[in-house]
Amino acid sequence: MSSSQPLRFKTLDQIDVAGRVVLVRLDLNVPMKDGVVTDATRIDRQAPTVRALAERGARVVVLSHFDRPKGRIVPSMSLKPVAAPLAAAIGRPVAFADDCIGEAASGVVAALGDGDVALLENLRFHAGEEKNEAGFADALAGLGQIFVSDAFSCAHRAHASTVGLAERLPTAAGLSMQAELEALGAALADPRRPVAAIVGGAKVSTKIDLLNNLVARVDAVIIGGGMANTFLHAQGIAVGKSLCEADLAETARAILARAEAAGCRVVLPVDAVVAREFKAGADSRTVEVTGVADDEMILDVGPKTVAEVEACIAGSKTLLWNGPFGAFEIEPFDAATVAVARAVEKLTRAGGLASIAGGGDTVAALAHAGVLDALTYVSTAGGAFLEFCEGKELPGVAALAR
Ligand code: 3PG
Ligand code: MG
Repeated sequence: MSSSQPLRFKTLDQIDVAGRVVLVRLDLNVPMKDGVVTDATRIDRQAPTVRALAERGARVVVLSHFDRPKGRIVPSMSLKPVAAPLAAAIGRPVAFADDCIGEAASGVVAALGDGDVALLENLRFHAGEEKNEAGFADALAGLGQIFVSDAFSCAHRAHASTVGLAERLPTAAGLSMQAELEALGAALADPRRPVAAIVGGAKVSTKIDLLNNLVARVDAVIIGGGMANTFLHAQGIAVGKSLCEADLAETARAILARAEAAGCRVVLPVDAVVAREFKAGADSRTVEVTGVADDEMILDVGPKTVAEVEACIAGSKTLLWNGPFGAFEIEPFDAATVAVARAVEKLTRAGGLASIAGGGDTVAALAHAGVLDALTYVSTAGGAFLEFCEGKELPGVAALAR
């Protein structure tokens, strides 16, 4: 599947699960400090799938990776500390198995009654997971009768638990996988037009594929963040000490040409907030983009740019947002990101705008602006969100269609 194709997959309500052992791939790769989960957003997003299966009498076996142990047992990367927060989120006890295959796993699975839930230890303690090794995938598949894939944020990985299981067992998408695919599909495959996309963040180099795909698909691309400096530089504008990938000037010009050929409007900053140092509360001033001094750096876009961005979004029916405008982590360079976030909140609440955002920094910026719950959809995925928006086929999504 690519994001231009309609999405085809089985949903949870189309499978019969009562009395069956259902293997559910979640992404429980959650922020943790000293063995305590510090942000349960991902758990809360995926809990409804586990709850729905348990309520329908399935014997639910939850599979996940945690961090990157690279095929070895790393005690600090155990999933055990996630069992209690998962139990709290689903409102049922969660048994834990010290291994995801072998006797430890099969013993815990055999003890499950209808409606019971177990969590198995980190899949990536076995090298076979990331290599999608047949023997490992067979061992996992042997534990159950049905596979439910609910980890959209891992769907860009062709692993045993994202692809191998779908090849071996009857498969359905979980509720959060379905929600992600429908929301992202609505933004890219069949959106209400006009569509605007905000692409921000530090570097053009990480977003070349994204920009090339978007300019061919959407009606306007708004470029913010450090990467806008590279575009300004590419147009002969001096950006002082700003973050800038000078070697990508040609790439930036090619993206602009592609946009023009496709009839996609590109909104670049017209003014900027500049400072001599990168620190909170640093002395700053607002200048036209052509007025940046040699010893200054651009740390945010200015109010004229914000007004242009807001007007562009107000004239759109769909917004896709990846990447902040400025150095939003430090004040006052969060101003533009917060202002645009509040405008998006208002337009979304008024009902005229479908707003879809994703990516780690973007979620943090929207949370900082206090609008996380106001958008139409916020994806918790990082790499998978980006690859979807790049128009790439995600192996874990393609596997659902088989
Ligand atoms: C994530 O946190 O983005 C997902 O869990 C995927 O993790 P990975 O990048 O280690 O595959
Ligand atoms: Mg990651």
